[in-house]
Amino acid sequence: MWLPCGCTSKYVASSFARRTLASYLHVSGRSRCNVAAFMPEAAGLEGVSGRAALRELSVSNSESFWAAVARHRLCWSTPFHTVQDCDLSRGKIKWFEGGKLNVSVNCLDRHVHTCPERVALIWERDERGWCCTDELLEMTCRLGNLLRRHGVKRGDCVTIYMPTCPLAVASMLACARIGAAHNVVFAGFSADALAERIRDAQSSTVITVNQGVRGGKVTELKKTVDTAMQSCPTVKQVFVAMRTDNPVTMTARDIAMEEVREQKEMLKEDVVCEPAVMNSEDVLFLLYTSGSTGKPKGLVHTQAGYLLYAALTHRYVFSYHDGDVFGCVADIGWITGHSYVVYGPLANGATTVLFESTPIYPDPGRYWDMVERLKINQFYGAPTAIRLLLKYGDQWVNKYDRSTLKTLGSVGEPINTEAWEWYHRVVGDGRCPVVDTWWQTETGGICIAPRPSDPDAEIVPGMAMRPFFGINPVLMDTEVIVFGFLQGEVLTSNNTSGALCMAQPWPGMARTIHNNHQRFIDTYFQPYPGYFFTGDGAYRSEEGYYQITGRLDDVINVSGHRIGTAEIEDVVNQCPAVAESAVVGYTHSIKGQGVYAFVVLKKGIDVQEADLSRQLNGMVSEKIAKYASPDFIQFAKRLPKTRSGKIMRRVLRKVVESDLEGLGDLSTLDDPAAVQEIIQGHEKLL
Ligand code: WTA
Repeated sequence: MWLPCGCTSKYVASSFARRTLASYLHVSGRSRCNVAAFMPEAAGLEGVSGRAALRELSVSNSESFWAAVARHRLCWSTPFHTVQDCDLSRGKIKWFEGGKLNVSVNCLDRHVHTCPERVALIWERDERGWCCTDELLEMTCRLGNLLRRHGVKRGDCVTIYMPTCPLAVASMLACARIGAAHNVVFAGFSADALAERIRDAQSSTVITVNQGVRGGKVTELKKTVDTAMQSCPTVKQVFVAMRTDNPVTMTARDIAMEEVREQKEMLKEDVVCEPAVMNSEDVLFLLYTSGSTGKPKGLVHTQAGYLLYAALTHRYVFSYHDGDVFGCVADIGWITGHSYVVYGPLANGATTVLFESTPIYPDPGRYWDMVERLKINQFYGAPTAIRLLLKYGDQWVNKYDRSTLKTLGSVGEPINTEAWEWYHRVVGDGRCPVVDTWWQTETGGICIAPRPSDPDAEIVPGMAMRPFFGINPVLMDTEVIVFGFLQGEVLTSNNTSGALCMAQPWPGMARTIHNNHQRFIDTYFQPYPGYFFTGDGAYRSEEGYYQITGRLDDVINVSGHRIGTAEIEDVVNQCPAVAESAVVGYTHSIKGQGVYAFVVLKKGIDVQEADLSRQLNGMVSEKIAKYASPDFIQFAKRLPKTRSGKIMRRVLRKVVESDLEGLGDLSTLDDPAAVQEIIQGHEKLL
């Protein structure tokens, strides 16, 4: 039932939730739920006063710190016996072993006791101001029962291909409730990209909607799933919910999940769903992300550590207080949506906003209109949107009342000073702290951010600044290369730049790459043995603050979407006319980075370059997603290579940035004339 705005999803519907929680806690015979107290009062942390002392303790005595907050913040059915069992040199990460809990109980049922009337979700639909009324716990339980009845078991993996909507959140939580892992695939991904992720995850169940709606445009999600199914023989069932009123063709594999019309599957289900009792280290979800090689990697996050870290960072980085309305505008298909739309806020009993639309639909006032209507207290978004909105002018912001805002957050890519200043001065009226938060799919939650710190501690524009509790960043020398690998010493001084690594494990970090632990070790732990290597470079200022300087590998960041250049090259190279290609990122005023492809055609190929460019763009959109499609395609006779045949991407990057001074040492080039040709071609294209 779609109703006008004001409708929401509450944490609980009725006393049934109380019963579920009571019986759940009965498993251990006692409740460890204590959500009222402030963290320093957590058992084991008494007497630690001030954020600085707490941070110091969190690093120097990390076991006591994490044990205390885990007992304090999470609701366990069996307490853990071992705080951590980690060995970074082997990529072994385990937290809170022996502990048992259920993530959905932690996100839903337990808030029955503390805030039964608080709204859990506010769905800001694409069609401004329309939301859905179902109760979140009830919806989650019905879905959990539905999945169970259709044979989904603990340990199975369910792929979710849906827009940001309550049913998608309930699907994630329903998986958590019955002990299945979820694999959310961003609804902007193509059928091929979806199929690849379903196959790699060995998912036999998919949940989708008939159509998506974003920015007023309809996307055919169910049709995309149908296409993906042609290469996913393992999928046995596809649950289809209705986001629009338009019917779609259903096959024998499809199950109509939750239609407006009566007697559909979900409505038959009971509203009580027994939560699975999960081990701390059981898988909670897989989330695919790009690396520097072609194949996306399915990062694995587990139950307790991930949830604790998402909840703690949500509370402290954004100064979240009980009763606040938290507005993170990320899509649930990305890690930001997982940690700061769903798990972090819900674990804290927050009211969390689900934003389905775009920053400029139907006009560039959309965000601020929403802030006014929903009375948002913390707003968390991406620099690319801020840069875009800045260009439309202050009037779109000033039209709306933003007095409820307390903290503004930025995530996903570096925020340039101009965007930061505008965000602070215009959106936040100069009175809201702006937190530039650095983190990754791999880290599970925010690792470096200006807060928590003393409330009036300085914030430097465009700097993530301070490591979070339990995070111990180090910078490594990137100059030394041994046998082709980076090998370096820890750089101890300030006012220095290096590879950003973490010297200590923390509960939120990813545990492995699905089905490929060796790749996990090779990517993150082998470059600097004993440390977690982030892939990013950073600068540490004189004062000891961190500023992220960008990726050190072949990953680029387009509008906050992370993409491996090798993934795009793989697609371009599939075109029969193409001999080889090289893709690099270049600075783009709105998107942060744009995609620039160099393409060498096979000998004797005679085509119109414009036609081929169109074809290649179409291929990339179809095989990956629209955002990965090149902004520029430069056809070249050859690419600059070393004598051993490696493409010199460093040179190509400098050329597209028009930084010819910075071309650097070209002595290893096989044929220096190739660079001149590339430079001339680039100038012609601009
Ligand atoms: C980049 C998104 C600068 C970085 C949460 C990282 C940032 C990658 C920032 C992870 C920031 C994220 N400043 N760069 N505040 N936040 N990045 O996995 O390169 O989609 O490695 O996670 O985005 O992207 P991912």
